[in-house]
Parts: sequence; C-alpha cells; structure tokens
Amino acid sequence: MNILVAGGAGYIGAHMVKGLLDAGHNPVIVDNLSNGHQKLLTGGTFIKGDINDINLLDATFQFHNIDAVMHFASFIEVSESVIDPLKYYSNNVSATITLLQGMIRNNIRRFIFSSSAAVYGEPIYTPIAEDHPCNPINPYGQTKLCIENIIENCSRAYGLSYMILRYFNAAGADSSGLIGESHNPESHLIPLILRAALEKKNDIKIFGTDYETPDGTCLRDYVHVNDLVAAHFLALQGLMDGHRNSIYNLGNSRGYSVKEVINIAESVSGIKIKVTESDRRPGDSAILVADSRKIRGDLGWSPVYEDLRQIMQTAWNWHKNSGGFDKDVTICKDFSK
Ligand code: UFG
Repeated sequence: MNILVAGGAGYIGAHMVKGLLDAGHNPVIVDNLSNGHQKLLTGGTFIKGDINDINLLDATFQFHNIDAVMHFASFIEVSESVIDPLKYYSNNVSATITLLQGMIRNNIRRFIFSSSAAVYGEPIYTPIAEDHPCNPINPYGQTKLCIENIIENCSRAYGLSYMILRYFNAAGADSSGLIGESHNPESHLIPLILRAALEKKNDIKIFGTDYETPDGTCLRDYVHVNDLVAAHFLALQGLMDGHRNSIYNLGNSRGYSVKEVINIAESVSGIKIKVTESDRRPGDSAILVADSRKIRGDLGWSPVYEDLRQIMQTAWNWHKNSGGFDKDVTICKDFSK
C-alpha cells in the first residue's frame, strides 16, 4: 500500500516508516524537518514540505496514489504549549485542517491520527479508559482534542474513516539500532536521562516532588515505540476491513514515577545520574496511566515490551551506539522557572 506518513522524520513517524518498509509497503513521507531528522529516514519517498501547503498535498496525493494517511506531524512539548499556545494551534490544528481538506478533495478517506493521553487532563480515575471525560489542562492537549472533534465532524460530513490512537508516553528504540528518540530541542525525560548518563555532566531536574503520588513525582505509562507501530498496522487493517471508526488508548497500564524512571535508567546504563529537585512544570498531570483493554479486545493489540526495563534497554542501546542525538541538540529550557 502507498501510505502518506505526515511527520515521518520524527521519532515515532520514523519508526512507522521503517515498519512500513519492512512490511513491503511504500511510505511517502511529508515532513518539513522543523523537528524531524532526515537521517532517521530508512527509505521510502521523502518530500520535504509542509502539510499546511495544499498545493503540495494535491500533487502528492495525485502522483502517489495514496491509500491511507498516518498523521504524526505535530508539536508535542506540553510546557512549550503553555507559553506559546498559538504555535500549537497553528501547527497542530490549522495544518491538520489543511491535511484533511487535501484528503477529502483528493478522495482519500482513511486516516490514522496520533492523539495523546494529554486529552484527558487530570484523571478522575485511573487507569484511564477511552470514555473518561476529556478536560485537557494544557494547550497541547486542547489541540489534540480539537483535532479529534474535527475528525469526527469530517467523518459524518465526508465519510472519512478514522482511527484515533491516544498514545501515553512513547519510549524506546528500534532493535536495529538505526533509529531512536531524539527531539530538538529535547525536553523528554528518557532521552534527557540517557544523554546525562552518556555525557556524565548534565544533571536531571525532577519537575515536582509534591504530587499526590507514592513518591511525590509524576506517574507516566511508558509504551514502546514499536508497539505503537504495531497498533498502527492493526488500525490500518481495521480501516481496510471496514471496522467502525474508533478511538483507542495505547499504553501498558502501569505507571512509573519520575524517580523510578531515573533508577531504571541508572540500572540499565550502569551510570549514576546527577539529579536535582525542581518546581513543578506547568501543564503536567500528576498521573497518566492507560486502560488499553479496548484495542486489545477489538484489534488484538498485544504489546511486546511491557516492562520499562526492557524499553529502557532498547533506548540505551541506541543512545550508546549512535550518540543518540545530534551534538547540537539543545536541551529545552527549564519551563518550571
Ligand atoms: N520530567 C522531569 N524532568 C525532565 C523532563 C521531564 O521531571 O527533565 C517529568 C515531567 O514533568 C513528567 C515526566 O517526566 O512528569 C514525563 O515528561 P516528558 O516530558 O518525558 O513527557 P510528558 O508526559 O510531558 O509528555 C509526553 C508526550 C506528550 C504526551 C504525553 C502523554 O510528549 O506528547 O507524554 O502522557 F501527551
């Protein structure tokens, strides 16, 4: 199949591209490289461009005979979205509207959207199921929820078929060692910890130690990037088989605190990491843990990597062997200040 992968040069998109190539599909990647890295691309057709460019979309859809669209292209920094919400509405919402317009007018009706646990906000129960109320507490989560609603409207109006996948915390790297997690600037916990371990000079700030959690630090549900890729294949098959439009959580249903993540990284790498305690970061929920029984039951999703230690090991292998990041990656400024 010919699959348009929007944001295919980003962390999760690049793993999807590799998965598609390995399975014999033809990924067509549209990425403006604002956050992606061309060197994460392992093949396929790469078009450097913006999904906000309707002419580029028309040409791409017409030339490549696209069967389905997977949309990974969005800004993802919760804390940045708090200080610059318009950047998020412009890129995440406005550009997605253009992408959907391009699809509809070129008669492409299969859409898989990367949504986020951030749509739930502060949970009123945990683990969180898909029918939990959505009350995002940061603009990033608002943009994801906004797009979910737009997709639903497009489905009713234009017959769009969709799968919305709400990722919890993506982590880990492909076992090939070719690709892994690198954002620029980097703000994510695991790559920052592993970078600190490799460089032995940076310290890790824990953003908040006074949450209502067992050790006072936030709990997150880490899910391996290739288990996310596997879910996309199941979602794609579901769309091909005429499965009903659905929203699914993707997580392992186990929360790890920031302190536990640091301990596991130290144990996997064998390196002691310097840690300092800092204020809370604006926009962070205390606990985000998935109830993912729906996709397991409906589509048979069964994550291979259920334990954070295994996930961390794959991330560490990539960081250790590749440097894990561009040397010029900047570390995100401390938004807790
Ligand atoms: N954290 C620190 N220090 C750091 C970086 C992060 O203590 O230097 C903490 C955060 O406060 C948070 C946890 O580590 O409690 C995880 O933070 P990340 O930045 O790695 O990830 P987020 O949970 O903020 O967000 C990620 C994705 C979002 C997605 C969300 C879903 O970036 O797109 O997971 O849970 F919505």
